[in-house]
Amino acid sequence: MNIIKVNDTQMGGKEAFKIVKDDIENGAKVLGLATGSSPITLYNEMTSSDIDFSNMTSVNLDEYVGLEPTNEQSYHYFMNEHLFNKKPFKNSYVPDGSNPDAEAATKAYDKIIEENPIDLQILGIGRNGHIGFNEPGSPFDGTTRKVGLTESTIEANTRFFEDEKDVPRFAYSMGIGSIMKAKKIILLAYGENKADAIAATVDGPVTEDCPASALQNHPDVTIIVDEAAASKLK
Ligand code: F6R
Repeated sequence: MNIIKVNDTQMGGKEAFKIVKDDIENGAKVLGLATGSSPITLYNEMTSSDIDFSNMTSVNLDEYVGLEPTNEQSYHYFMNEHLFNKKPFKNSYVPDGSNPDAEAATKAYDKIIEENPIDLQILGIGRNGHIGFNEPGSPFDGTTRKVGLTESTIEANTRFFEDEKDVPRFAYSMGIGSIMKAKKIILLAYGENKADAIAATVDGPVTEDCPASALQNHPDVTIIVDEAAASKLK
């Protein structure tokens, strides 16, 4: 694992962007994308760049079950706001949270991932080590699934909703097995509340108790962290 320490999220976005740009110049066509606060500075770099994404495909990690793409809290809406409205891709895929048929929604998404192998995957990390919505205990060979959110994730995501009871309890998430198939991975983590998860990811045992520890088995992972998120590394 390659670890890059940065002073702040702005610098983190710039470092991540360098890797994204370089990968695109070397032929990357499919980007795996995440929502949340961590990738925002990277998306800002992307939207203010002169890179043309109109020949590229994006595949997002996850979406809340029960939210339409037009819902302001949906991940689809987030991606439109932060990236796609400013820099359209040829195709942008997000799991269909509006489809209540989990079997159909997750199968359809696996087909999309199979047909669009991910060159570069962007990840954030949860305080409990989750990647995508793969909470502790998720299988390392998992494909797209309907997952229940843990209390810690619901609490962390409440900041985006008016009330905790409005936070959806389920999501469709790409599995760890699919994430691990990406050729290259960048994980972004900022702030003290990510320090334990980063330490467990990098220095801890490879265990389903920390989903991101699976990344130790991937050949090309870069972790971009600020001082606070790196503070518990050995
Ligand atoms: C979002 C996602 C999540 C977040 C994680 C960190 O698509 O997959 O795993 O990356 O919860 O979120 P932030 O960046 O808001 O701290």
